[in-house]
Amino acid sequence: MWTFAIVVTALLAALAVAAVAGRFWLLHLVNRPVRPALAGAGGGCEGCPSVMMMAAQGGGSAGSSGRGGNASGGSSASQGPNRRTFLRGALGVSALGAVGGFGAASLAFLWPDVRGGFGAVLDVDDEDNILNEIDENGGRLEYPPGRALLVRYDPEDDPEGQYAELTDDQNARVMALYQVCVHLGCTVPWCDSSGWWECPCHGSQYNRWGEWMGGPAPRGLDRFRVEIGGDGRLMLDTSEIISGPSRGERALQEPPDGAHCT
Ligand code: FES
Repeated sequence: MWTFAIVVTALLAALAVAAVAGRFWLLHLVNRPVRPALAGAGGGCEGCPSVMMMAAQGGGSAGSSGRGGNASGGSSASQGPNRRTFLRGALGVSALGAVGGFGAASLAFLWPDVRGGFGAVLDVDDEDNILNEIDENGGRLEYPPGRALLVRYDPEDDPEGQYAELTDDQNARVMALYQVCVHLGCTVPWCDSSGWWECPCHGSQYNRWGEWMGGPAPRGLDRFRVEIGGDGRLMLDTSEIISGPSRGERALQEPPDGAHCT
């Protein structure tokens, strides 16, 4: 959430800076004086005040005509280099700001949130507390900071150790699933009546452990590794999303508790 806010803010800042830079650049183009070389070619054109202005600045023959316009034109021309310098400086600073803002936005978007958000290793809670909450919630616990769905894991239901790598060598009693449907990315809700994960978008169904049971999803739900610390706390590693088991891989032999939701 914070990353998204930073990205949006940085992009808006970059756009604002770019808009200001563009405005200065246009002003610069509109106010740019005619080159002195044209004064000689024009030979004192009556309808060309810029030419006369530049000639007066250079102290050439056009300035000797003594027209009143020359005096004011000389004053304006004397401001030209300062204004150009200022505008060029402003443009340079603005361009640097735009590039810097875009770079910062890109980094903020790509960099994992090491302060404890999604993309980091999260200290969830004491494992016993999590198990109690899973039971109180009818068999699952949603953990939004990690975009994870937590369910009970019993090694006896996984005799082949299919999920050993994800459950701290089967020491953990919790398995963590990624909440995003592997079909087209909807968030998958829990179906209270069946005790499965059932996607309302196109009807994919996954059992309690997120294994594919039906629908268009190409595999089971993706998942995260968990570890149990020495103090019994469950650490959820969201730095890597582990691809879910294929359709044929199924360890949990558990029929639905009741009616399906999809
Ligand atoms: S997005 Fe879940 S079934 Fe299509």
